[in-house]
Amino acid sequence: MEKLAIIGANEFQNPLIEKARRMGFETHVFAWAAGDVGERTADHFHPISITEKEAIWQVCREVGVSACCSIGSDLAVGTVNYIQRKLGNPCNPEITDTVATDKYQMRRALREAGIPCPDFLAVARTPERRTVEAMGWPLIVKPTDRSGSRGIFKAESYEDLCANLPAAIGQSFQKRAVIEQFIPGPEYSCEAVSFDGRHHILSLTKKYTTGAPHFIETGHAEPADIPAALLPGIYREMERALDALQIRYGASHGEFKLTVDGHVRIVEIGARMGGDCIGSDLVYLSTGVDYMAAVIDTARGVAPDLAPKREPCRAEIRFIFSPADAAEMERVRAAAPDRVWRAVYDGLAGAPVTDSSNRHGYWITTAPLTH
Ligand SMILES: Nc1ncnc2c1ncn2[C@@H]1O[C@H](COP(=O)(O)OP(=O)(O)O)[C@@H](O)[C@H]1O
Ligand SMILES: [Mg+2]
Repeated sequence: MEKLAIIGANEFQNPLIEKARRMGFETHVFAWAAGDVGERTADHFHPISITEKEAIWQVCREVGVSACCSIGSDLAVGTVNYIQRKLGNPCNPEITDTVATDKYQMRRALREAGIPCPDFLAVARTPERRTVEAMGWPLIVKPTDRSGSRGIFKAESYEDLCANLPAAIGQSFQKRAVIEQFIPGPEYSCEAVSFDGRHHILSLTKKYTTGAPHFIETGHAEPADIPAALLPGIYREMERALDALQIRYGASHGEFKLTVDGHVRIVEIGARMGGDCIGSDLVYLSTGVDYMAAVIDTARGVAPDLAPKREPCRAEIRFIFSPADAAEMERVRAAAPDRVWRAVYDGLAGAPVTDSSNRHGYWITTAPLTH
């Protein structure tokens, strides 16, 4: 039986573990033991932190895995690629591990490639007033190397920046934050898979957030409500950005905003699937393409099969913040159970949500596509 290493065991990784098992692989799952669902669904669970690359490699070597993959975690990207390189499998160059996970290096790489970017700078402490005032308000501040909206805030003034910047720097592993100009406009993401440097854009996702100041994701919907005339330009720009980060293999999740005249402005790009069930569920539901199988095959050096495997539909995930959200989920579940693809709820709606990691659950619905 062919053996596959999967990095991460939490709720959002679990669909990949289950998919790999359905495809007939023996799954070896690596994560810090925390009682996560993947610890039970894996054929073999190895309680090693996902950042312990060398220890994970030793086990992979002993076990004889043929490939390594994961779903939507920036923290896992470096480890997945480390194992893939050790195995001699095709994967992205080392530079991609950095430029696709460090928001400052990402901006530099995009700008060097001529991709339009907001003005930005990286700081380890509060900069002088005139340095940031020159960029103009509002500004957005983010830890250089975190995700899930941790430490994100929109600053409207220098005082605002001074009050909130230390928290963003504190969240960063490198103890640095990026300050950049705020890009107005609706927000989307682009889900793709690349093989041998060729990018296949599978879908665009509309993103909903709590808005300022922290922009925590409240939901995602596919397909996105973008006029067809804009799509070729968006695809071209996203492909250019993927090339700028030297993404050549595997999944990518490119977040962007659209300006009023329909131009793409990149927010960030991950060299991995979109989290929040975008990669594991929404792409498959809205396009019929088995994205998880494509990612597993790409990791094994096999060209992905992008033929639709089911009738595409409208797919939407909504996250539970408040008791009203939980009540809405229950209402939809009772009224139209066949529309609910999956629902997960911790029973604690109403307790404070500070970033994506402490939202209280989600539900995914499907509906017929309207043409
Ligand atoms: N330059 C920007 N202009 C406007 N909004 C931004 C900008 N950068 C980030 N955001 C908002 O903050 C959210 C989180 O920022 P992002 O860079 O995606 O970090 P994370 O890794 O936490 O998702 C984005 O989804 C977007 O809503
Ligand atoms: Mg993001």
